[in-house]
Amino acid sequence: MAFELPALPYEKNALEPYLSAEALEYHYNRHHQACITRLNQLIEGTADADKSLEAIITSASGCLFEQAARAWNHTFFWHCLSPKGGGKPKGALAEAIDTEYGAFETFKQAFNDMAMDDVGAGWAWLIKTGDGGLAITNSDDADCPVAHGRTPLLTVDVREHAYYIDYRDARRKYLENIWKVMNWEFVAQNFA
Ligand SMILES: [Fe+2]
Repeated sequence: MAFELPALPYEKNALEPYLSAEALEYHYNRHHQACITRLNQLIEGTADADKSLEAIITSASGCLFEQAARAWNHTFFWHCLSPKGGGKPKGALAEAIDTEYGAFETFKQAFNDMAMDDVGAGWAWLIKTGDGGLAITNSDDADCPVAHGRTPLLTVDVREHAYYIDYRDARRKYLENIWKVMNWEFVAQNFA
């Protein structure tokens, strides 16, 4: 079974003014679709053709792993955003952030700093650690925490293709605005 580009959970203009419909047209319809298309070319006629995306990520290597990880990461990223997002996390997730970072604003600053330092430009992640704590990490464009047995809570795509249409080279501004559409309900589900 060939993989299909998963539907966006909102309209392409729904994240405006923070991410434009044009930006999503390129990022989702072209870049994300390209991962899926290449993934399907790689698995066609092989034993991987019947596997789930997660099974490919945890078993494959090389180009196949990279395309599967890119495809998974992008779908996860779209769900991390919502036109009804923004504000602050609540409940157990908010408590965990306060415990780990002292305050939500401190967490955001630490996350954005990590994402700015990612000169190789892939993904910035908040993950749940084995002891139930939190950690901020970054990864290559073609890597995924799921491959390393980690539990991702949220991610931000920091490749230039994620923000160049709306922000040109101002990655910091993109990072500041992405929190205004962060889907904390989805992040809390991942934490639970
Ligand atoms: Fe991307």
